[in-house]
Amino acid sequence: MKMRMKAKTNFVCQQCGATYAKWMGQCTNCQAWNSLVEQVAEPASGAGKSAIAKGQVSGKKLDFVKINTIVPSDAKARLATSFKDFDMVLGGGILMGSVSLLAGQPGMGKSTLLMQVCAAVAEGGHSVLYISGEESAGQVKLRAERLGAKSENLNFAASTSGNDIAKTIESGEFDLVIVDSIQTLMMDEISSAPGTVSQVTNCGNLIIRAAKSTDTAVIIVGHVTKDGTLAGPKVLEHLVDVVLNFEGDRYGGFKTVRAVKNRFGSTNEVAIFEMIDSGLKEVANPSAALLEERTNEDGSVILATLEGNRPLLVEIQALTTPSNYGYPKRTVSGFDLNRLNLLIAVIERRTKLKLSDKDIFVNVVGGIKLNDSAADLAVCMAIASAAAGRKLEDGYVVFGEVGLGGEIRSAFRADQRIAEAKKLGFKHAIGPAAVKDKFVMPVTSLREALIRFVK
Ligand code: TYD
Ligand code: MG
Repeated sequence: MKMRMKAKTNFVCQQCGATYAKWMGQCTNCQAWNSLVEQVAEPASGAGKSAIAKGQVSGKKLDFVKINTIVPSDAKARLATSFKDFDMVLGGGILMGSVSLLAGQPGMGKSTLLMQVCAAVAEGGHSVLYISGEESAGQVKLRAERLGAKSENLNFAASTSGNDIAKTIESGEFDLVIVDSIQTLMMDEISSAPGTVSQVTNCGNLIIRAAKSTDTAVIIVGHVTKDGTLAGPKVLEHLVDVVLNFEGDRYGGFKTVRAVKNRFGSTNEVAIFEMIDSGLKEVANPSAALLEERTNEDGSVILATLEGNRPLLVEIQALTTPSNYGYPKRTVSGFDLNRLNLLIAVIERRTKLKLSDKDIFVNVVGGIKLNDSAADLAVCMAIASAAAGRKLEDGYVVFGEVGLGGEIRSAFRADQRIAEAKKLGFKHAIGPAAVKDKFVMPVTSLREALIRFVK
């Protein structure tokens, strides 16, 4: 058997670029900790070196073209995924030659989603290869069967070799290749363990180069931890064309896919899925589904929010209980804890409600993660409603930002929020006075909102 030549590698500080032959915990040049990453050494050619020494410019003049004559890369073919909203998130389907990263927590449904996408693209007559470094052929077959993926054009390979995968992509035999997942890949030349920054960056680069050279669309799976911090996929974000975040509740509830980076489309679209027996299904009317099981209790308020470009009505629930310790507890799910603490401070300071002796729990129903400043008023009203034990009247939705002075500030795209509320049969919105619409009962301060509507 032929021994593969071990390529020479060195360790490069990601902060200052200093190179070392051996790994060290701290860069002796810039004192940064943990900044050394193993890379394949590419020695500068002799000519280049001497040119630098002489202060000469060694490059050649670039070939340039008139912008008017360039064919936009958007004009290339796109592969439809069979998911209408997911296609929108991608900017109109998967662009040939594009490399995307699908990042999400383990168990979110990444492999499921991609197997469904593969099945649809293969049905459309394109050749597809699903590469798994995590699961055996038998396991993947089980999932494929469950999802009804049985096209002749759908192929499978098990591999953890970055080199082999890049070579396979480079063959140009496939229109779409899935790599599940980047954390399992190893490159021969690199000695670090799979999942380390060195392996992820080098394998990522290799795959991207292969995809671009053959115009193959590639989707790479990346696992992230709960707070999204795992180093691996983060470094990939800079290299790929599209970064998709798969978020939500792993056990039931809605899951959302949105693009946090897209070189070929907007980042405002979102696809909302639910996991059923036969795989992931797009939710056609998420507002209705989210409100289906609602009973109007105290502490429950309907917020008219936006998920990307889409208006969405979600229920905010708050619960307050007497604190057992001197230090009241604040717990939140689907909303920012710091923002919650700020809002509690505003309520205490700007209204007569006392919350310092109460534990407060806030929950956004349906696994939705709010990222909307106009959620403030609904959260405040839910807390006030829970603390006072009084419910809001039926038929109201709420939106508006709360300032530190307790003033209600305007919300962007109020018309879309109002339209969604009307569509679902709501009678009124409680919102900022700046919105000129008869549907909105205007409130100028938090105090006014609580006095008028939490009674
Ligand atoms: P999976 O796609 O393997 O998650 P990931 O690749 O992100 O780690 O699947 C996530 C969960 O979905 C798994 O626990 C089982 C469940 N599931 C269903 O409920 N229905 C289905 O049809 C499939 C294929 C999976
Ligand atoms: Mg998986």
